[in-house]
Amino acid sequence: MNSAGEPLTHSGRDDVRIMTLQAHILEEQAHQPLAGGTFSWILSALSISAKIIADKVRRARLENVLGSIGTENIQGEVQQKLDVIANEVLLRTLGGREGVAIVASEENEEPVILRDNKDGDRRYCVLFDPLDGSSNLDVCGGVGTIFSILAHDRRADNAQASLLQAGSRQVAAGYVLYGSSTVFVLTFGKGVDMFVLDPGIGAFMRVEQGLKIPRHSKSYSVNEGNRRSFPAGYQRYLDWAQSNDYSSRYAGAMVADVHRILLKGGVFMYPPTKKAPQGKLRLMYEANPMAMIIEQAGGKAMTEPNQRVLDVQPRDIHQRTAVILGSADEVDNVIAHLATH
Ligand code: AHG
Ligand code: MN
Ligand code: MN
Repeated sequence: MNSAGEPLTHSGRDDVRIMTLQAHILEEQAHQPLAGGTFSWILSALSISAKIIADKVRRARLENVLGSIGTENIQGEVQQKLDVIANEVLLRTLGGREGVAIVASEENEEPVILRDNKDGDRRYCVLFDPLDGSSNLDVCGGVGTIFSILAHDRRADNAQASLLQAGSRQVAAGYVLYGSSTVFVLTFGKGVDMFVLDPGIGAFMRVEQGLKIPRHSKSYSVNEGNRRSFPAGYQRYLDWAQSNDYSSRYAGAMVADVHRILLKGGVFMYPPTKKAPQGKLRLMYEANPMAMIIEQAGGKAMTEPNQRVLDVQPRDIHQRTAVILGSADEVDNVIAHLATH
């Protein structure tokens, strides 16, 4: 009870309403008239997946599911046991939801078609990176799940064609960070909201509404081990940043790095390298959803040559892209160095 004898809210503060992710989604759905009831079902599938994956990540060492399974995914990357487990959790929870037409995962070569669209209901495509930063698992580092939701394009001839939409057409996007707490960050295209899993009651509680990324912060996040194989402009930027007292922070998991930048500011980059000339990060599972979140928080998300990530017209669901995202002024600083010769 507060001093006026009224009950306290979840946070113990009497100026903040208790709002679970579930209630937040129902509230948002009222403003998405096209969505019908299906949208909240999809988000609730993602929320239950996040709770299951969070539990599996925490128990990984105890249940001996760390390490690789000795296979490679479509991207030619070694799959960790938990990559496969997280992928199955998402496929199984989304598979039960009427509103989902097609699911595409970083871990599956082909999109999974769950339902055709003959009955006329509005349906969605859900794309995801089930476990991002999975090589961090063995060392108890932060890992995450990233997702993107598109409206199903009924005119498309096949599943691939329905999915090949520019990021600016995303209906919603978000990520879950399995860190020292489990955090769910979500946008429907009208700002960014953040929820934290309360393990005591098993619900995501809203802790921030309308998150805004700081406009500047002297901090960059990039794998500097690759520096010599970056195009010259990135090397010029790093020289400039280092002679201007910038800090370097890099977790090696995009979700963890982007989450820090969302809250504290700075710039995250994954430039082209000799090994990955198109960049390493995947446009549809990683770059697009993160770009939507960062832009919705007032930041910028760019790729080469000086193009919004969200404007890239995808040609392949697994295609990769260079990424420069974060505080607007810091992204501009990088772009300015790419442009000079
Ligand atoms: P994933 O684990 O889904 O394959 O993604 C790993 C990605 C991303 O999380 C991170 O930003 C990047 O790879 C790190 O790559 P480097 O180890 O090359 O820096
Ligand atoms: Mn990833
Ligand atoms: Mn992954």
